Amino acid sequence: MTAKFPKNFLWGGAIAANQVEGAYNADGKGLSVADVMPRGILNSEPVLNGELGDFPYHTAIDFYHTYKDDNALFAEMGFNCLRLSIGWSRIFPNGDDAEPNEAGLQYYDDVFDDLLSKGMQPVVTLNHYDLPLGLVTKYGGWRSRELITAYERYCKTVFTRYQSKVKIWMTFNEINCVLHAPFTAAGLVFKEGENKLQLQFQAAHHQLVASALAVKACHEIIPDAKIGCMIAAWPTYPDTCNPDDTLKAMAKDRQMLFFGDVQARGYYPSYAKRLFRENGFEIEMATGDEAILKQYAVDYVAFSYYMSQVESADPDRREKTGGNLMGGLMNPYLKASEWGWQIDPKGMRIILNQLYDRYQKPLFIVENGLGAIDSVNADDSISDDYRIDYLRDHLQQVAEGIADGVELMGYTTWGPIDLVSASTGEMKKRYGFIYVDKDNEGQGTGRRLRKKSFYWYKDVIATNGEEL
Ligand code: BG6
Repeated sequence: MTAKFPKNFLWGGAIAANQVEGAYNADGKGLSVADVMPRGILNSEPVLNGELGDFPYHTAIDFYHTYKDDNALFAEMGFNCLRLSIGWSRIFPNGDDAEPNEAGLQYYDDVFDDLLSKGMQPVVTLNHYDLPLGLVTKYGGWRSRELITAYERYCKTVFTRYQSKVKIWMTFNEINCVLHAPFTAAGLVFKEGENKLQLQFQAAHHQLVASALAVKACHEIIPDAKIGCMIAAWPTYPDTCNPDDTLKAMAKDRQMLFFGDVQARGYYPSYAKRLFRENGFEIEMATGDEAILKQYAVDYVAFSYYMSQVESADPDRREKTGGNLMGGLMNPYLKASEWGWQIDPKGMRIILNQLYDRYQKPLFIVENGLGAIDSVNADDSISDDYRIDYLRDHLQQVAEGIADGVELMGYTTWGPIDLVSASTGEMKKRYGFIYVDKDNEGQGTGRRLRKKSFYWYKDVIATNGEEL
């Protein structure tokens, strides 16, 4: 019988600096866009000129100080990798400082050393929703080309520093979210009368060029490393077999695929021209940009997957699905999480096939998981069978995707330890195998507890996915 998962498959979990570390101003760290969001991407506007209160990302789960113990728990589950991000503003507090901050560089040296000593290879996202705030106030975020230079310098600094420790990199987390969360993903604040879509795509162009330059630098500095893009992926289904619904779904799909198309194939897809034209703008490109995109395509395509969505061309049907970050209609064939995200394991197989058919490059599932409310039993156990069900159902479809012929590098669940939600800034939306005793108000001991899913995932890894 053929094994479900390949040998040397990467098993682990994924976290992001701003959602776990806390210590938001320790050891010379500058503020990032996450530090000025009181209650996450969906529930708040950035506080740019006011007093910063006690915001959730400021303390998060204190991973900055607890990483050794937390890594030990990941190792206990058998992880052979951990996806984590570097906080850019720990390295360059304002984003474009003349010299990097040695304390920040040392911190990630220590974290990577600790992971490696415990048998886990670091899989590193260069920028995960925490652009240095200095780059927003000084340049207006990614609307400015200046950020390409700042990002390239940051990348070269960390590639050089960690070249012997980190061999798998990703350029931007969920790069397509510049279209959905422009402040968080690109530091964009719009002025009255501005063409928002134009600015979003202009910022995207800068990020895409920056991403290609990061690929170039990574290959030059660490020849044996792989560097990929990362997109928030979800299949879009047409509401009916009316061709108008299919066209609507296709347009929605392209909001995601555009980014993979440029990063994996190395050029702007033909459909982009019409989109820009019909929205009354062109992308400003510098001489040489297209050549850079062409020459430095990514080695692999990473993606997050949580849900699918449904699109209709009928305006009366287009009421929003509650809590679904991407909008869309309710799918009567699917259940939804407590946050209204529609649970669609088969969508995982669909997206794996769609991305592999299109790009023919290795894929890497770097986020998947269920945000749910957990309760702690009297004996400190946590019976999160719903999380096990969600992950098992998805992993079964991952195995189907592999059987379909998809080349897959690995699977890292989102939030192997409870962390602060990106969309709502809450702690009660928990993803972890490890419970963290902390509530939405930041109260709690911070104590870590193993949930039932902890033992389940440990078995999954120990059997290389044969037992789900
Ligand atoms: C992805 C992000 O969009 O989804 C993560 O890369 C985020 O940062 C995750 O945490 C889950 O979303 P949420 O809003 O439930 O935290």
